[in-house]
Amino acid sequence: MASTLDIDSLRNASLRYLWMHNRDWTQMAEEGEPSIIVSGEGVRVTDSEGRSWIDVNGGYNSVNVGYGRTEIADAAYEQMQKLPYFPNGTTTEPTVRLAEKLAAITPGSLSRVFPVSGGSEANETALKIARAYHKRRGEPGRYRVISRRGSYHGTTAGVLWLGGSAAQARDDFEPAYPGMVYGPQPNPYRCEMGGETPSECAVRCAEEIERLIEFHGPKTIAAVIAEPVGVPQGAAVPGDEYWPMLRDICDRHGVLLIADEVICGFGRTGKMFAVEHWDVVPDIMTVAKGIISSYLPLAAAIVRREVADAFAGEDNYLRHTFTFAGHPVSAAAALKNIEILENENMVRNSAEVGAYFKQQLEGLAVDHPLVGDVRGIGLLLAVELVSDRATKAGFSPEDRIPERLNVKFKKHGLIFRISSNILSIGPPLCITTGEVDEIVHAIDLSLWELEGEMGIATMT
Ligand SMILES: Cc1ncc(COP(=O)(O)O)c(C=O)c1O
Repeated sequence: MASTLDIDSLRNASLRYLWMHNRDWTQMAEEGEPSIIVSGEGVRVTDSEGRSWIDVNGGYNSVNVGYGRTEIADAAYEQMQKLPYFPNGTTTEPTVRLAEKLAAITPGSLSRVFPVSGGSEANETALKIARAYHKRRGEPGRYRVISRRGSYHGTTAGVLWLGGSAAQARDDFEPAYPGMVYGPQPNPYRCEMGGETPSECAVRCAEEIERLIEFHGPKTIAAVIAEPVGVPQGAAVPGDEYWPMLRDICDRHGVLLIADEVICGFGRTGKMFAVEHWDVVPDIMTVAKGIISSYLPLAAAIVRREVADAFAGEDNYLRHTFTFAGHPVSAAAALKNIEILENENMVRNSAEVGAYFKQQLEGLAVDHPLVGDVRGIGLLLAVELVSDRATKAGFSPEDRIPERLNVKFKKHGLIFRISSNILSIGPPLCITTGEVDEIVHAIDLSLWELEGEMGIATMT
């Protein structure tokens, strides 16, 4: 472990040289941040000062098998010793084996795998495949892509313009990418289309996607992209009608359906892939994060055979290259990661412990007037805080709810950063019920303290 002197110099160097995601170095300096993490095991990490924390979101909902799985490190090490990379125009055994494995575990005829390094690249790849596919089929006018307001599909210059919300402000980067069309989010708690039940919301939101296709002209629409369970809305599980309806609408209008399983995939929702909850096979599935539990960068766009076959034939291939696409070290690590997920029944654990976790969170609503809604599936869960349950009103920015809760969560041993009134939860899938109890207890204490400060604490 680093000495005190090392920690100070590391923190100072980080404040001076490192540009971290969505964090301001002046504020971090005032708060004695950033924490520097030196090790991890399961759902816990240890910082450079020897303090242990529960990482409620396992990185970015991404460390699915948990920290400290040395088998993954060994697989990467062995491959790096044997062959770290490959000559131009060739491939390697782990890369092929990974593509074969993904074809085997994804539903239907999803079987052609374009490996990349991250979720944004996977979605960029999916959009390019969709547009290029329609060109090859003689419909070059299909360039528009429909996404849902509030969704997040990545940060690079194209996919940045999919979805979008105030929390992901993008005015710094205007003008927008052309061809983006936005539909409603099937969030049953706050249905944009006025649906009062999950089913009503699902049907109305899906119908609105069809209306948008017809409004813009089906011959101009390349694809619809959606997360099976909406994460930025806080684990918003759509009514059961939604995904089958989307599939049907896309089929009838010749539009490709892209399921973004970057967070939902690899067991997060209690199935290996979330679309399996509704027996729907998308035309393209994008995956990242849990494919390798974030041990190394890896992601993929996985394409149905019927779509990929449009790219067969000389001079017909997709012009699309990333130097690190198909990296053998990442592929070897991902194969080991998937083996762990399967052999240790982590997908089942996600379903079972997730159900327990949700029940415990629901219990918080009894004591805490701030709890407006508890939702989610598997280990993709959320608690939405409101100032008034009846009206579902939120808070004013002056209430500084996320900032105040972030401090309290930290005080109670959690690394659990929130940026709105939604507590989004996505721990490693190896979590136990005992660890769930620890997290729920810490959230309980934090809410008591906050409600006490607000003068609304109640005793039942
Ligand atoms: C649903 C979804 N799609 C895409 C991305 C982008 O992935 P990456 O950060 O690996 O580029 C994310 C990232 O959180 C995501 O949640």
